[in-house]
Amino acid sequence: LAETLNRMIARLQASFGALRRFTADASHELKTPLTVLRADIERAMHPGTPQADRLVALEEAMQEITRMADLVDSLLTLARADEGRFDLHREPIHLEPIVRDVTETATILGEGAGLTVSLPLVEDAMVLGDAARLRQLFLNLVTNAIKYTPRGGKVEMTLSHRNNNAVAFAVRDSGLGISAADLPYVFERFWRADRVRSRASERGGFGLGLAIAQWIVQAHGGTLTVQSRLGRGSVFTVLLPMLVDERPDAPADAPQEA
Ligand SMILES: Nc1ncnc2c1ncn2[C@@H]1O[C@H](COP(=O)(O)OP(=O)(O)OP(=O)(O)O)[C@@H](O)[C@H]1O
Ligand SMILES: [Mg+2]
Repeated sequence: LAETLNRMIARLQASFGALRRFTADASHELKTPLTVLRADIERAMHPGTPQADRLVALEEAMQEITRMADLVDSLLTLARADEGRFDLHREPIHLEPIVRDVTETATILGEGAGLTVSLPLVEDAMVLGDAARLRQLFLNLVTNAIKYTPRGGKVEMTLSHRNNNAVAFAVRDSGLGISAADLPYVFERFWRADRVRSRASERGGFGLGLAIAQWIVQAHGGTLTVQSRLGRGSVFTVLLPMLVDERPDAPADAPQEA
């Protein structure tokens, strides 16, 4: 009995620790854009600031507000997921249109980043899913692939059947890759391979995209895995249970026997 209690206490302590860390990280991430915002607005309000510089300061302030709004969005999503309030609307949906739509967005982003984006394989499949969340999931993976691949690189997506009962969406990039030592942490909240550099550079994300991706996949009864080599590139693979439509009046691709 004592052992069971000890185990329970250890688990509770671990989850309180995780909660404390989450709150501390979230506050820290919100404080940074607030500091920048204050400086921008002070500059815009200062009577000695030339008109042109005022506009620049206000534009910068708007950018920080967008960043903060994104962060708050992500935090709310994760908080709801923690509470078990999934707000998922699962229904039978086709994946192909979602993947094509994500590819279109990715192609535009890829062009801006000097990358080749392609979709060499699409095998449509139905899943019991939330279309908006699945789109968000695919976009998170693809925007990472684009963000962490230097100019001239390649980003490739595929949608394919696995063993007749699962469908795989994979994103392969030829980018920076992730070291074996870092790999276990990629799905943790606020984790970034290189905090200092990625904060200062254009890349600067919050380290929440993959935590959200992981939640969406789990809420769909699927798995999300990663294979990567530092300097060589990464492959992120989502496996989702395939929905086999068994209604007698279901539209069939193949001719049915009479
Ligand atoms: N395709 C990839 N190639 C190399 N590193 C990656 C890739 N995807 C993720 N990473 C690493 O994992 C970290 C966490 O990714 P995640 O998407 O959770 O956060 P982020 O992209 O930094 O910020 P955001 O919250 O805006 O998504 C990244 O900061 C990066 O270091
Ligand atoms: Mg990301």
